[in-house]
Amino acid sequence: MNTIDVQGLTKRFDGFTAVDGISFEVGEGELFGLLGPNGSGKTTTIRMLVGLSRPTAGRAKILGFDLSFGITEAKRGIGVVPDSSNLYDELSARENLLFMAKLYGVPKDVREQKSEELLKLFGLYERRDDRFGTFSRGMKRALTIAAALVHDPKVLFLDEPTVGLDVVAARSLRELISDLHGKGLTIVLTTHYLEEADLLCDRIAILVKGNVVEIDTPRGLKRRAEERSVIEASFGREATDLVGDLSARLPGAEVVLLDETRVKIYGGDPSRVLEEIFEFSKERNLGLNAINSIKPSLEDAFVRITGLSPTVMAREKGGKGR
Ligand SMILES: Nc1ncnc2c1ncn2[C@@H]1O[C@H](COP(=O)(O)OP(=O)(O)O)[C@@H](O)[C@H]1O
Ligand SMILES: [Mg+2]
Repeated sequence: MNTIDVQGLTKRFDGFTAVDGISFEVGEGELFGLLGPNGSGKTTTIRMLVGLSRPTAGRAKILGFDLSFGITEAKRGIGVVPDSSNLYDELSARENLLFMAKLYGVPKDVREQKSEELLKLFGLYERRDDRFGTFSRGMKRALTIAAALVHDPKVLFLDEPTVGLDVVAARSLRELISDLHGKGLTIVLTTHYLEEADLLCDRIAILVKGNVVEIDTPRGLKRRAEERSVIEASFGREATDLVGDLSARLPGAEVVLLDETRVKIYGGDPSRVLEEIFEFSKERNLGLNAINSIKPSLEDAFVRITGLSPTVMAREKGGKGR
């Protein structure tokens, strides 16, 4: 039996479809990623799966319980880490965990022991009596995850766990998530970081405008990208306005601007592409700095599958999501 079974799950807000009939399964112990740019429907999907938002259509089963009539039972086995923390600044780390344990109905006699165990596991035991409000972002995120585990859930939902963290804190949190995965917990996480999905996930569903456009292992997704050549060219001056002209000369290929001076060309006949780039940069006096044929990354796979420029993924909250 799958731990999660989602079929045709849909959410509309006054006529706007945020999640458009998505389907996927998550096996026991799997770490499943929902990867998509901001506004693609990740949070809405998670909220429906954990019973915080009612689907407009479709169904989902978690741990064998149908969400529409078994949400109370399902919730006992679910831990949720929302995209912003649900803990209290004024309470200490320990008090927050005890409070959450009470909320989740953990028996009184095991609350203290469970909290201590989690504080140790998450490296926060020394800081147990400090107020949550005084914690660094990384520590806050870690304690928020700990709080979602007080009732020993079988499934953990993590909504953008590393957003807003510095590189070091993000790495240590990923290790933590990886450890939980290693212990057999089933995990669903959302992210708009391709590297994060690549590093952590067993399988990834790519979400674009509320639709799952592909589901595969990171390796499988990359393999698909390998069916097409990927060539990167770096120019000595700005090439932003020239993408259209270059595209026109490369039928069957797709030219994506990486930044002002770099382009990636997907597909087409590789030797023809190389030749055309040399010609083009000579004609336009672009001062070709480097040209590489590269091994596809998950980013390349993402571009190939979605047709979206990788820069849409870099857009943090506040940008136009649709
Ligand atoms: N409560 C709501 N009312 C109206 N629109 C919403 C609501 N929640 C989310 N949306 C819209 O649904 C889309 C998906 O949002 P969300 O699930 O938060 O995306 P993500 O988590 O991938 O960034 C966005 O366009 C967002 O503006
Ligand atoms: Mg979100």
